[in-house]
Amino acid sequence: MSVTVILGTQWGDEGKGKAVDYLAGNFDYTARFNGGNNAGHTVVNELGTFKIHLVPSGIFYPRVRCLIGNGVVIDPAVLIEEIESLCNAGIKTEKRIFISARAHLIMPYHKILDGLYEQAKGAGATGTTRRGIGPVFADKMGYNGLRWSDFAEEGLFANKLRTQLDLKNKIIAALGGDALDFEKIYSEYCGYYATLKPYIVETYPIVQKGLHAKKKFLLEQAQGAMLDPDWGTYPFVTGSTTLASAATAGLGVPPRAITQIIGVTKAYITRVGGGALPTEIKDESPTAKALQEVAATTGRIRRGGWFDAEVVHFSTHLNGVDALFLTKLDVLSQFDEIKICTGYKFNGKPVHYYDLNAYQLEQIEPVFRTVRGWREDITQARKYSDLPPRAQRYIETIEKLVDVPIKWVSVGPEREATIKR
Ligand code: GDP
Ligand code: IMO
Ligand code: MG
Repeated sequence: MSVTVILGTQWGDEGKGKAVDYLAGNFDYTARFNGGNNAGHTVVNELGTFKIHLVPSGIFYPRVRCLIGNGVVIDPAVLIEEIESLCNAGIKTEKRIFISARAHLIMPYHKILDGLYEQAKGAGATGTTRRGIGPVFADKMGYNGLRWSDFAEEGLFANKLRTQLDLKNKIIAALGGDALDFEKIYSEYCGYYATLKPYIVETYPIVQKGLHAKKKFLLEQAQGAMLDPDWGTYPFVTGSTTLASAATAGLGVPPRAITQIIGVTKAYITRVGGGALPTEIKDESPTAKALQEVAATTGRIRRGGWFDAEVVHFSTHLNGVDALFLTKLDVLSQFDEIKICTGYKFNGKPVHYYDLNAYQLEQIEPVFRTVRGWREDITQARKYSDLPPRAQRYIETIEKLVDVPIKWVSVGPEREATIKR
């Protein structure tokens, strides 16, 4: 058996899409197992630049099959649009994308409630993507969800939808929103089902057959380990488990089948939405601007900061990461000096990430080590020895602090801008 999990080790947007696109050519299947279209994974290869939200990033290799597991929540309109745009780019999707019939559906009221809850929480809001993620996972766990499989039974989807609209319209009205109409939503979702039906299957036999035939699986996590509802900075987290172990339930893979866990980590750190970012550069300096990015899903600004070894040590060890895929090293080429956070102090005393809650984490003082930058364009480097000695030293310092080997170094968004050590 060969099952590799790719995992973001920070607060998302580490470059998982890039890593999967680089590695997937050696696999038979790629799969998503958590989250929904709150994810935005960027792939840059010879076919173009793609920002994908639901389809696994292995879709660009014609022989690789792509599974959207039961653990993923699906906004059908987004998925249809994504499949269409892939088709328009000349990518074959039929008999290559398989959507689990067990996957839960994001309904219009999930998106409305996401917005209303956020609004009600004011300054304490999570800063969600407003894609309905929290509410759809709450409904899944509260036995109120709607799934593709509900369409298989005459009248079932309609009945469930009616019940949910009765409930949700009361909540929406209480929060000052407008009631939703059954007929409109029902016909809309019947249309989505008709369009996606050729892709919807029970994925269990596919996964089992693949495992027994020794096929290779690459499982692509969405979000990052630090957005996990249990181990992240709750309540500034996402609605589904983001740990490597989520791949077992979210796709239907036995835990023992997982053979490798790869952590993707940025050479610095970013975060979009609310919640602590301990190494954030909060001023208006050119350095702060240089580490900020524009979010792939919502277009919001990703806050930026220096590499946080305390956080990445925690997330990689929590998940049992075997090797790291370090991304965006090229972004650091512009600095004379680079800082690395080696630990935290709280009230003057050394603490670990796990000692604190999300609110205390806002108050910690990061302990920095400053290293000299290399100030050289590294985007054309393809071998480790092509990197300037100071860049190599930066990699080795991170490796030592995090205590996980760095096996790949990415020096640009493109597939080929990658160094394998
Ligand atoms: P994901 O959600 O983890 O897949 O990451 P995103 O796609 O949301 O964000 C990562 C961003 O960094 C995207 O714009 C990528 O194209 C880009 N990127 C990935 N790796 C590199 C790299 O090594 N260098 C540079 N400059 N950009 C990169
Ligand atoms: P990828 O897969 C970065 C963040 C949101 C918000 C919090 C909760 O591209 O790395 P949600 O809509 O999930 O209820 O929002 O989680 N968030 C992400 N941040 N990358 C992501 O995905 C994210 N998915 C959710 O910004 O702070
Ligand atoms: Mg992203």
